[in-house]
Amino acid sequence: MDLKPEEYFQIADEAIFALEGQHLRDPEKFIIEGSVEGQTYEQIAEKHGYAESTFKRDYGQKLWERLSEALGEKVSKKSFRAALERYGAQRTDSQSKSGQKEQEQPAAGLDDGLTRWVGRETLIGELIAKLQGDCRVLSLVGITGIGKTSLAAQLTREPQMQEFLPLVKTLSFYQGSLDFQVVAQQVLGENLASQPELLQNEDAMVREIVHKLQSQPCLLVLDMLEAVLQADTQGGHRFEQPVFGKFLDAVVSVPEMRSRLILTSQYRPPVGAERRFLERHHTEPMKGLDRTEARMLFAAWNVEINSDVDGEYLDRMIAVYEGHPLALRVIAGEIRSPYEGDIQAFWDEYGYEIEEVERLKTATEGDPSQDREDLTFTIDLKDLVRKRIESSVSRLREDYPLAYRLFCMGGTNRRAENRRAWLFLIGEFPREEQKLAFETLLRRFLLESEKVKSKVYYRLHSMIRGVALEHLRAFDRN
Ligand SMILES: Nc1ncnc2c1ncn2[C@@H]1O[C@H](COP(=O)(O)OP(=O)(O)O)[C@@H](O)[C@H]1O
Ligand SMILES: [Mg+2]
Repeated sequence: MDLKPEEYFQIADEAIFALEGQHLRDPEKFIIEGSVEGQTYEQIAEKHGYAESTFKRDYGQKLWERLSEALGEKVSKKSFRAALERYGAQRTDSQSKSGQKEQEQPAAGLDDGLTRWVGRETLIGELIAKLQGDCRVLSLVGITGIGKTSLAAQLTREPQMQEFLPLVKTLSFYQGSLDFQVVAQQVLGENLASQPELLQNEDAMVREIVHKLQSQPCLLVLDMLEAVLQADTQGGHRFEQPVFGKFLDAVVSVPEMRSRLILTSQYRPPVGAERRFLERHHTEPMKGLDRTEARMLFAAWNVEINSDVDGEYLDRMIAVYEGHPLALRVIAGEIRSPYEGDIQAFWDEYGYEIEEVERLKTATEGDPSQDREDLTFTIDLKDLVRKRIESSVSRLREDYPLAYRLFCMGGTNRRAENRRAWLFLIGEFPREEQKLAFETLLRRFLLESEKVKSKVYYRLHSMIRGVALEHLRAFDRN
């Protein structure tokens, strides 16, 4: 087995950390990585500007002693690689075992944060009917956090859809892979590897993808398509890479197509320029949940209504945020922790924020003379939601600095990561504190989770991630 120099270092660092609770430093990193590449102490010292004569004594010998302790076998500059390989292999085994165990028995009072879907039954019924009919491309459009991604996911889980198209392929542009190639990779898979020349020829690539979709029907979900759109001059949006448009137009216009596409986007993706195929694509503008659905959502999140007053407060929050699920989720998270589900206790502290928004809303909505172009007076739901998240995060900073720190650092994750990777972000803190911080983020609903092959991965919602990154920059400045 041949690992990369940095992989050897990572394993060594983990082993040392497990024993000593502290991480290796630069000189040790240089020694491990340099030794893997066959360099001598002198060469490593020279390369990184250390005193050559004392480098081995100051850093080398101590490192092998510590590592021997951590690995439970004697190692030297010559023999450490095999020992690290063994340690690494064992570690992966036990990791996957313990990972499974954690999932089977979630700690009491904790949930895995997975979406508990509620409502939208009528809409789901209508959309499935469309997809089973002529509609080949369904675009779910609406502001961030309104529930597009989870609706797409829910559609793939509906029994009728599973029967109609058992094969599901999903691709999220959350990860920042913005090239059309990723679509080709997702759809063609192995076939692409055997025809790399396709990547040089856009038209051929589109033909091949469409052909595959025709011959092997699947439900293809392209999530967060706004990432590959840009504003045009007419107030609409177009694809940064025209090949996306070519692809969608081809899906709509070919005579025969049994696959279906679900797109989610904050802006309406330009699909089907030709008027004659109108029934083959549909755009669904998404609104928030209605009062009953939103109340169900709070119940699903273990925020219970125990009195009329509770109900009234919840309804006012639902109304102010127009049933926006992400905003409500963040509020529910706060009511859960630190208020342990006590709606009135939360309202006593922060109800004034909701009241402020209520006043602002009646002020703008109630005044017909208000010039609609004067945007400074209209309140945008997106701004409101963003403010909501920001105040939640500021309170997290006050209440729980380590959870706040983890939250900010999590902003750098470009994809969903497992729990271990999240804890690693604050790896320098005691294990128990790491766990508590992570659990706090879960309980406050600041993390989204997804299950892939019975493993759970966690990420920040894109809007929440934006807030995290801003805080991280401020954090770094101080
Ligand atoms: N109908 C629903 N039932 C339960 N949770 C929902 C529902 N709609 C949205 N959510 C939750 O609200 C949050 C935002 O939804 P998401 O689908 O990520 O929005 P978008 O993709 O529009 O940004 C997520 O945490 C999601 O789980
Ligand atoms: Mg989304």
